[in-house]
Amino acid sequence: MADLTGQVAVVTGGNSGIGLGMAEGLLDAGMDVSIWGRNEQKNADARAALEVRNPGRRVVAVRCDVSQEDEVAAAFDQTVAELGRLDACIANAGIGGGGPIVDLSLAEWRRVTAVNLDGVFLTFREAARRMIDQGEGGALVATSSTSAIHGAPMTSPYASSKAGVLAFVRSCAVAWARHGIRVNAVIPGWTITDMAMGGYQNDAFREVTVKRTPVRRWASPDEYRSVAAYLCDKSGTFHTGDSLVLDGGYTVF
Ligand code: NAI
Repeated sequence: MADLTGQVAVVTGGNSGIGLGMAEGLLDAGMDVSIWGRNEQKNADARAALEVRNPGRRVVAVRCDVSQEDEVAAAFDQTVAELGRLDACIANAGIGGGGPIVDLSLAEWRRVTAVNLDGVFLTFREAARRMIDQGEGGALVATSSTSAIHGAPMTSPYASSKAGVLAFVRSCAVAWARHGIRVNAVIPGWTITDMAMGGYQNDAFREVTVKRTPVRRWASPDEYRSVAAYLCDKSGTFHTGDSLVLDGGYTVF
């Protein structure tokens, strides 16, 4: 693993699940990390656990709703004030939602896309502004989903937001290459987290998804540690506009 000591990363949704796994990976690689989430208690618990497991690293927890423009700007201000700089940002915060499309309300559509797509836009825009001012390049990473690839009839706002994230990642990669800012996405498959727990605990659903996954299981959040460190490593200077699928083979089966 690369040595990223002295560098600073933001992980939105870093208090739980995949984001927490990614934050662990960045701390393993030597970075100081600012985790953002809406729930103060989860933020505090995650921060305490990360500090215990990573002595010598600085961990900041910031309450932020990534769908709110002013909160995103304030969270970056707080992060840079406390940790001094910004080298990488993982826009990972997300929520589920949906329902049968013919019955879906516009309010539900917007509730999901406000966090999963608008939130990535607001996060990347603010991160890039700060990285451009800093003048040392950087790495941006977004968490998409395999539902951007396969049809998702019951979670269409979710799937659409995650497909939108991939297009936005490619737009940002082109826009900011001249500033040395690389922009990539991770496409996770089924992973045991709070968001997906309902599906995981449903025996029939778990069985169907496990059978369709060549590695025959769901992922653990820990399995996102190394990809986070890899994508945030500035030495990967030619790798941008890409998306890495970590789904145990689900989408190629
Ligand atoms: P999780 O529920 O454990 O974590 C979600 C995180 O997002 C939490 O930290 C929560 O505080 C944060 N969050 C939610 N809304 C927010 C908001 N408005 N502002 C700030 N933070 C907010 O779930 P998980 O699974 O770790 O989700 C992380 C990402 O991975 C999401 O983008 C999700 O769509 C994606 N994903 C998850 C998969 C799975 O099977 N668990 C599969 C594919 C993608």
